[in-house]
Amino acid sequence: MDDLRQWPEPVVPVQSLSDGGLTSIPEKYVKPPSDRPSLEANLDRGLTMPVVDLRGIYDGSVDSRAAMVAIWDACKEWGFFQVINHGVRPDLVEEMKGVWREFFRRPLDEKQRYANSPATYEGYGSRVGVEKGAVLDWGDYYFLHLLPLSIKSHDRHWPARPSTLRKVTEEYGGEVFKLCGVLLRVLSMGLGLDEEYFRRAFGGDGTASCVRVNLYPKCPQPELTLGLSPHSDPGGLTVLLADDHVEGLQVRKDGAWLTVRPVPGAFIVNVADQIEVISNGIYKSVDHRVIANSKDERLSIAFFYNPEGDVAIGPAPELLTPQLPPLYPCITFNEYRMYVRKRGLSGKSQMKSLKLY
Ligand code: OGA
Ligand code: NI
Repeated sequence: MDDLRQWPEPVVPVQSLSDGGLTSIPEKYVKPPSDRPSLEANLDRGLTMPVVDLRGIYDGSVDSRAAMVAIWDACKEWGFFQVINHGVRPDLVEEMKGVWREFFRRPLDEKQRYANSPATYEGYGSRVGVEKGAVLDWGDYYFLHLLPLSIKSHDRHWPARPSTLRKVTEEYGGEVFKLCGVLLRVLSMGLGLDEEYFRRAFGGDGTASCVRVNLYPKCPQPELTLGLSPHSDPGGLTVLLADDHVEGLQVRKDGAWLTVRPVPGAFIVNVADQIEVISNGIYKSVDHRVIANSKDERLSIAFFYNPEGDVAIGPAPELLTPQLPPLYPCITFNEYRMYVRKRGLSGKSQMKSLKLY
């Protein structure tokens, strides 16, 4: 059995390599040719990810229907959309980016006091998965839990400095959590289910949330590696705050990789695996990855809205008919997540291995 107590090899923060001024990347980060980002992937094929203005939904105006339809269509066709007028205060968003940039600028030994382990992933880290000899990604991250309160561990697992980091992260998390509540109601309605359906299916008040702050340092050979390998997110819904100025996120659309152009001030929202499961495949959890770049460092902050760990999740019975049988079995999120924690990121292989048809 894979050992989830410790990493199979010593973890080297990518930031420490990048700051050392390397001109070529260590072998461990070199992807096999088929996994490297091709130039072709950067052609945008004239496609743009839908951008949805949530103002109508918040003020209940006639525009709300159009916004809801745009979200439903985006979740079926793209699995991704951007939201503007999302209700999270712009100054809080800026503060959130600011405190985390500052954290990553702190001395290495201070950051390494929070070094994480594969048992919980909480803290400062640089790899996903415990397979010895795996090819690594060109990125570092900080992972922490916000909810449920029973596993939130401020004192041990959240950085103490900068001094405002904990307060800002909590406040930001609270606001984005509310936004997810609104989006989940919209998604429930899009399936003809009652508004609270997804929230209830996720365990109601037991719903979990966590944050992963990603730092992608400058990379001298971006054509040989990736900032983050292809994956779909395992949880419910993801709200990503991407760097306004530095691109990097790519989404798989119609079989090819498409670079996302972030709209300033917007969040990028994506359907994650558990929503695909509950919707029985109507809403799509789509593969995405991050490419590295040689000119600029990139920071992104992913907020994950997840089901309670021990609630069984399966396709909504209301959506099933003899012609539309369940595509996925019912399993808990804790069981599901174990797969990713052992194997690392590998596209949608987890979903595919579970699929009944
Ligand atoms: C993630 C993720 C994308 C990005 O953290 O799950 O997909 O742009 N991040 O950093
Ligand atoms: Ni992701």
